[in-house]
Amino acid sequence: MDSNACGAQCRNMRKPVTLNLLIESATAFNASGRANPFLQDNPICLAGKSKVISPAAQNGLVLFREKARCTKCHSGFNFTDEKFHNLGIGWDDNRVDLGRYMVTGNAEEIGAFKTPTLRGISRSAPYMHDGRFKTLEEVVNFYNKGGIKNPHQDNLIIPLELTDQEKHDLVEFLRTLKGEGWQQVKAPTSFPK
Ligand code: HEC
Repeated sequence: MDSNACGAQCRNMRKPVTLNLLIESATAFNASGRANPFLQDNPICLAGKSKVISPAAQNGLVLFREKARCTKCHSGFNFTDEKFHNLGIGWDDNRVDLGRYMVTGNAEEIGAFKTPTLRGISRSAPYMHDGRFKTLEEVVNFYNKGGIKNPHQDNLIIPLELTDQEKHDLVEFLRTLKGEGWQQVKAPTSFPK
C-alpha cells in the first residue's frame, strides 16, 4: 500500500474501526512527516519511503519477505503469526525442551516454541528460548543453514543460500524495528509453569 492509499483510507470516516484501519490511519499520520516514534518501524509505511531507512535495510525488508522467508512466521503488525514452530534449538546439544508439546500433548508440537515478536529485537539479546545467540548475525546464520535438523522440525525451515551482502542487509533491516515503549519493559522474575 502506498501512503496516498493510507490517506484516502484515513479520510473515510464511515468505515468501522478495525485493527487494520487503525494501523493504516497511523501509517498515514506517519507519512505526513510528523515525528511518530511508535511507527517509525512500520514496514507497510517504510516500503515506499526511501529516506526513512537505509537502502541496505530496504533491501533487507525485501529479503525478509521473500528470499529469507521470515514472514512465513514473523508476519503481521507484531511480526508473529502467534503460532508454534520447531526450529531445532536444543536438538544439537542434548538439551531438548519439548516446548508446546508439554502443554498440548500434541505430537506435532514436539519442540515447538511460539514465534516471538521482532519489535525492539536489536535491544533484547540474547536470542532464542535458550539464549544461545548473542547477535542478530548469529541468528541469521542459523536460519541460513536451515536451522537444526530433527525429526520434528517445521518444514517451513529450509537452507536459504543468502550471500554475505544479503545477510548483512537482513540484519540492517532487523535493526530498524525499534521504537519507543521498550524503556518501561522489565525482565520477568518468574515464568509460566
Ligand atoms: C518456521 C517459522 C519461522 C521462520 C520461517 C522464521 N522464524 Fe524466527 N523464530 C521463530 C520461532 C518459533 C522462534 C523462537 C524459537 C525458539 O526460541 O526456540 C524464532 C525466533 C527468532 C528470533 C529470536 C527472537 C528472540 O526474542 O529471542 C529472531 C531474531 C528471529 N526469529 C528472526 C527471524 C528471521 C530474520 C527470519 C528469516 C531469516 C526468521 N526468524 C524466520 C519462527 C520462525
